[in-house]
Amino acid sequence: MYYDPRIDLKPSPLKFNPLNALVGPRPIGWIATVDREGRTNLAPYSYFNAFSSDPPIVGFAPNARPGGGRDKDSLCNVREVPEFTASIVSADLAAAMNETSRDLPHGHSEFTAAKLTEAASRNVRPPRVAEARAALECRVFDVIALPVGRDGRASHLVLGEVVGVYIDDALILANGRIDSLALAQVARLGYNDYTNVASLYEMQRPD
Ligand SMILES: Cc1cc2nc3c(=O)[nH]c(=O)nc-3n(C[C@H](O)[C@H](O)[C@H](O)COP(=O)(O)O)c2cc1C
Repeated sequence: MYYDPRIDLKPSPLKFNPLNALVGPRPIGWIATVDREGRTNLAPYSYFNAFSSDPPIVGFAPNARPGGGRDKDSLCNVREVPEFTASIVSADLAAAMNETSRDLPHGHSEFTAAKLTEAASRNVRPPRVAEARAALECRVFDVIALPVGRDGRASHLVLGEVVGVYIDDALILANGRIDSLALAQVARLGYNDYTNVASLYEMQRPD
C-alpha cells in the first residue's frame, strides 16, 4: 500500500497510524525537568534521540495533545528552566517508566507517584532517576515549533547540549566500552509495543 499522511493518517485498511511501527525501535528519554519553583517533573519521551556527538546534542519532542489542551509539563518547564535530564530506561525499569507517563496535575512529581528516587545532577537543576544506570544532563539551546497539525497546534522539538553524563561504573567493561546487554535499554515500537536490547552483533565498516 501507499498513502499520503496529509490526507489520511490511518488509511484503510489500517486502524492505527503505522508510522511509529515503521520508525522504530525508538530509544526512550526519561525526561526530568523542574519549573521555576523547583518542582520536579518526570515523563517518558520516545520521540527522543541523539543528533550529534561533538558537542553532544540530544532532543525530545513533546507532542501537542490531541484536540488541544495545555502544553505538556516537560515543555512548560524547559521554557521556565531551560535544562533537562534524560535517564536511560533498562528493562527492569519499564513498568516504572510507563507509570510516569500519567498526566498528573502540574507540580505533582511523577518521581513520588512511581516511587522513584531523585539523584541530584551536577551541572543542571533537574535530578536524574537514581534507579537508572545512565543519564544525560542537558542544557536547552533551542525549542523549535514543528509544523502545525490538523487541530491547528504545533508539537515542539526541544534540543539540548549534554553537559554531564552519569554512568553506573558496573556497566563499564574492561575494554572501556559500555555493556549494552547489561544496560538492556528499552525502546518503543508502534502502538504499545516495546523491545529491549537482548542481543547484539558487530560489523566492521568498509575501509
Ligand atoms: C514509552 C512512552 C513514550 C512516550 N513518548 C512521547 C513522546 O515522544 N512525545 C510525547 O509528547 N509524549 C510521549 N509520551 C506520553 C507522555 O509521556 C505523557 O503525555 C506524559 O503525561 C507527558 O508528561 P508531562 O506533561 O509531564 O511532560 C510517551 C509515553 C510513553 C509511555
